[in-house]
Amino acid sequence: THRTQDRAAETVGDALPELGSEVLPAVPGRFVNTPDTDLSTRANQEWAEQITHRIRTSRLGQAEADAAVISTTDEVDAAIRRALDAQPAWAARPVAERAGVLRRAAQLYAARRDELLEVAASETGKMLEQGDPEVSEGMDFLLFYADQMEALEAQDDLAVTPRPLTLVTPPWNFPIAIPTGGMAAPLVTGSAVIVKPAPQARRTGAVLVRLLHEAGVPEDVLILLDAPENEVGQALVSDERVDQLILTGAYDTASLFARWRPGLRIKAETSGKNAIIVTPQADLDLAAKDVALSAFGHAGQKCSAASLVITVGSVSRSRRFRSQLADAVLSLPVGYPTDPTAQMGPIIEPAAGKLAAGLTTLGPGEQWLSRPVQLDETGRLWSPGVREGVREGSEYHLTEYFGPILGIMHADTLDDAIRMQNGTAYGLTAGLHSLDPDEVAHWTAHVEAGNLYVNRGITGAIVERQAFGGWKRSAIGQTAKAGGPNYLVHLVDAADARTDR
Ligand code: SER
Repeated sequence: THRTQDRAAETVGDALPELGSEVLPAVPGRFVNTPDTDLSTRANQEWAEQITHRIRTSRLGQAEADAAVISTTDEVDAAIRRALDAQPAWAARPVAERAGVLRRAAQLYAARRDELLEVAASETGKMLEQGDPEVSEGMDFLLFYADQMEALEAQDDLAVTPRPLTLVTPPWNFPIAIPTGGMAAPLVTGSAVIVKPAPQARRTGAVLVRLLHEAGVPEDVLILLDAPENEVGQALVSDERVDQLILTGAYDTASLFARWRPGLRIKAETSGKNAIIVTPQADLDLAAKDVALSAFGHAGQKCSAASLVITVGSVSRSRRFRSQLADAVLSLPVGYPTDPTAQMGPIIEPAAGKLAAGLTTLGPGEQWLSRPVQLDETGRLWSPGVREGVREGSEYHLTEYFGPILGIMHADTLDDAIRMQNGTAYGLTAGLHSLDPDEVAHWTAHVEAGNLYVNRGITGAIVERQAFGGWKRSAIGQTAKAGGPNYLVHLVDAADARTDR
């Protein structure tokens, strides 16, 4: 979705296009995704360099994030009251107005793309090439949910009532796109939103909330709360006045929240242990490239990342795929976002616990094809690791690590490979590399995952074209996918007006 545009010319400080002018030329009846920045042009490289210079000292969002810090349950109560007092007037506005505010926010994201990349990189270590598609995706969420709400409203036979208060708890790994989608969807339905960003991405969250306020969301309708993860955070999640929770994060967090507040409506997209199958019918060059990008993009810190590649039959026995993969991985330059030559960035915090074990120890029968090496004293910079000989049912097969490690498993047949791919508790993303239509059909009928990808990487779902959601332990209470046509209707109380009236 690249389009060659001169980003510097778009980023014109505070001079914004007039309200109502389109971010992109609209194709009647068709949603158009926002293009990412083409970083191969000289103008855009210069634009990116300007951002790179600012990353080290950036304090964007600091003041707003500090102002949002709370430490008592009384402050939780006050914020909830404030949101609930403001919500009816927001819900009473015509849908076209709320949709217009979201479209205005998308214009602001376009104009401040550089600021968004700067804050995400400086706070979480996200490389510009990884952050840039997040800005596009955030804009897509804003524009798509605006369209969807207007379409929902236009259904005469459906009476839609917003739920007064939505709590949104986004993750740090997609600090731009996921909070944006999480806030935009309930807001456009007429709900008030309290958002609690991940502690590692609090400044980025604060910048997003500022842009939404600037676009016209009233300050009391969208409230940023930096609540600590103790009894104060628990009071927020457990409060009976919260109607629904939109969460992206670990499965354990989501199930803890569900226990705190039985009966709370939860839409949670959680963990994954995702595999790509490569059969003898694959384009092996393409497969090696897609596996490497899916495993090591954002240093593997995506719930959607490939943690396993399962080679089938002769692909396992030949050296070709293995050496192509090793070449692709070993040639990935690792560094911080301030280093323009780096491609794979740091992990969010010094490797500890499960991830540290995954980076340093092997299970029975396993060996390193590429051993992860700690590259500096911070504990955050690691070269990508690839282990071979992962056995079915082993610790590595079943565990989510959320970092720059990939394991190779061998299967005799496609059915064996599908059993291994389905053999974990999770079901988020799954990939197949094969050019044989019969294999593709067979796999599609038997794979258990929310998001399936054939002959492409398994990260980077695109709003409207690839709605995103999980199965099994990759979701809790999720009935519709984010970025898809049924998402909004599950956030409201919708009665079939034909039977009610
Ligand atoms: N939507 C992201 C992806 O597809 C994961 O949350 O990679």
